[in-house]
Amino acid sequence: MNDTLELIRNRRSLRSFSDREIEKDTLEELKKATLQAPTAGAMMFYSIIEVKEQRLKDKLAILCDNQEMISQAPLVWIYLADSQKWENYYKDSGAVERGNQKGISFRSLGLGDMHLSMQDAIIAAQTTVITAEALGLGSCYIGDIIENNDIVRPLLNLKKHTVISCMLIMGYPKNEKRNLKPGVRCPEEYIFMENEYKEPHLKEMSLAYKELEDNLRKQNRLPYDNKGTLADYYYLKKHTSEFMKNMNKSAEEFILNWK
Ligand SMILES: Cc1cc2nc3c(=O)[nH]c(=O)nc-3n(C[C@H](O)[C@H](O)[C@H](O)COP(=O)(O)O)c2cc1C
Repeated sequence: MNDTLELIRNRRSLRSFSDREIEKDTLEELKKATLQAPTAGAMMFYSIIEVKEQRLKDKLAILCDNQEMISQAPLVWIYLADSQKWENYYKDSGAVERGNQKGISFRSLGLGDMHLSMQDAIIAAQTTVITAEALGLGSCYIGDIIENNDIVRPLLNLKKHTVISCMLIMGYPKNEKRNLKPGVRCPEEYIFMENEYKEPHLKEMSLAYKELEDNLRKQNRLPYDNKGTLADYYYLKKHTSEFMKNMNKSAEEFILNWK
């Protein structure tokens, strides 16, 4: 198999990092490749904050549901959907003024702008993930970064039209010989659809996630004395969890704030 394909197909999230520092050249490669990610109109509606201070990493680790690995990760990047910089540019450069004189009135940023900049930021992040892997580093997304919007926004000095898109922690693996087997995924016929959406219900979902459910049952990890289903597992562990409540509260706040 081609090296790139092999790398993509065997990638796994990494949550345990060695103390090895990331060399300057490696970091530079990671940045260069990230910047080559596709971006809407070549406008790069995103910014990336590198969390350098240990104190800040420690704080984020607590705010992200006490995930200690954030404190231990040598490299922590927060991807911002950033339309603010373009609004500033339009205003600062006189483009708005000149538009006004031509009868084109200023348009405030809307949710379409937010959606586009979110796409830009996430595409950049996934480009980082693949590049990191190619450079011998590992990475893990941290979804909980959007859990405490009210605390994290001021902590990072975010402005009205900058929103956290996602966060990555990266570093060299603690265990150099980690066993990289592809993670369990749904068979392709349950994900790829032809021409229109075909709404999955019980039959399709049970079949699609069968391997994951079987694995958890073997490990005795399903609820109701291991007699429950994968639906029970995720319903209790994720869907009705405190962190999902917080994420939804945060997302509502940052959408309202943007508008
Ligand atoms: C949006 C998103 C958020 C995630 N958040 C976390 C997280 O907070 N903590 C964590 O340990 N892993 C997190 N992950 C990693 C997933 O758990 C991981 O990708 C999934 O279990 C599949 O495993 P793999 O990446 O090794 O294939 C996140 C992944 C994504 C895409």
